[in-house]
Amino acid sequence: MIRYIDDLQLTGKRVFIRVDFNVPLEGKRVTDDTRIREALPTLRRALELGGKVILASHLGRPKAGPDPKFSLEPAATRLAELLGPKHEVILADDCVGDGVKKQVKELKDGQVLVLENLRFHKEEEGNDESFARELASLADVYVNDAFGTAHRAHASTAGMVPFVKEKAAGLLMKKEIEYLGRVLKNPEKPFVAILGGAKVSDKIKVIENLLPKVDVLLIGGAMAYTFLKVQGAEVGKSRVEEDKLPLASKLLEAAQRLKTSIVLPVDHVVGTEPSDKSDKRETPDRNIPADWMGLDIGPKTRAQFTQHIRGAKTVVWNGPMGLFEVEKFAEGTRVVADAMANNRGAVTVIGGGDSAAAVQQMGYGDKMSHVSTGGGASLEFLEGIALPGLKALETK
Ligand code: 3PG
Repeated sequence: MIRYIDDLQLTGKRVFIRVDFNVPLEGKRVTDDTRIREALPTLRRALELGGKVILASHLGRPKAGPDPKFSLEPAATRLAELLGPKHEVILADDCVGDGVKKQVKELKDGQVLVLENLRFHKEEEGNDESFARELASLADVYVNDAFGTAHRAHASTAGMVPFVKEKAAGLLMKKEIEYLGRVLKNPEKPFVAILGGAKVSDKIKVIENLLPKVDVLLIGGAMAYTFLKVQGAEVGKSRVEEDKLPLASKLLEAAQRLKTSIVLPVDHVVGTEPSDKSDKRETPDRNIPADWMGLDIGPKTRAQFTQHIRGAKTVVWNGPMGLFEVEKFAEGTRVVADAMANNRGAVTVIGGGDSAAAVQQMGYGDKMSHVSTGGGASLEFLEGIALPGLKALETK
């Protein structure tokens, strides 16, 4: 069982909230603040409940100690803007040590202390026990709201948890568990999954886990060409994982056994190179001419996928349908997002990563039931793997 922040008494307590502020930056500017905005409900709740709030996160993958490039300063600045003038956001210059302890002690009501990047200490990723104890010594209550990092067994996501008196999940974590969990445990039928992205190898375990649960699995993106090649289609210069052909073949057989229909593209938008300089044309069928490569699903496929999505009661999507970063190859991804957004009667879940970025970028974010803030974490969740960050929160 996992307790949530609402179940706790926080007045006057030091509340350590692990958030995932691993956000994209351009210099000192946060270019996508979704993860910061999504952490606000938990943060506000902790403040309302009278807690002394300490926020901790990693940012990027710094390898050699403190590095200003990976400072949480831009995230703290954005957080202060979002919280407004009622709350002061203070950035500590480290995440452990006497200076930080003093700052925690001196925290006043309504102030928020953001610790500097946890990964400035290699002990974070090493899940070092004394570092975990140091972090734990800052807190009376541990709250994990960092779903995006729940697949990592690090000091701040797992190691420190047993050393804090009380533990709970935050409200973002709750939403992630509820939606992704519902998809896996009791999806309303028909249940349609859409998988895309570049590589079959990234999605093998998700396919294996979802095949027995879904009614229909739609496959787009470059991973579709490996499956099409197995079926004898011409794939031209498209990206194919030759070493995964036997596995793709096994997955197709497994689907037949399970009577789950796997729907592959029946036509494509093809180009000469994966960039905006590429020529573009549509193929009449599933075969791709020798000098061309598949870069998006074609119009007939878009129509078929839309039909399936329209008829579904649960839809989960992970991985774009084509090279959506280049406008001329973005239509398949846009059409899938649009079909999901327009199926108001269905639970629609975007399983993080590139598809979440695409959905936000195309303006469909608030039209889905849930857009996961996890990349690797939502993939592992959909693979059926127990995430260390969630396991650490379990109480008997
Ligand atoms: C993410 O962005 O997926 C998480 O913040 C985890 O980051 P990591 O892959 O560097 O551990």
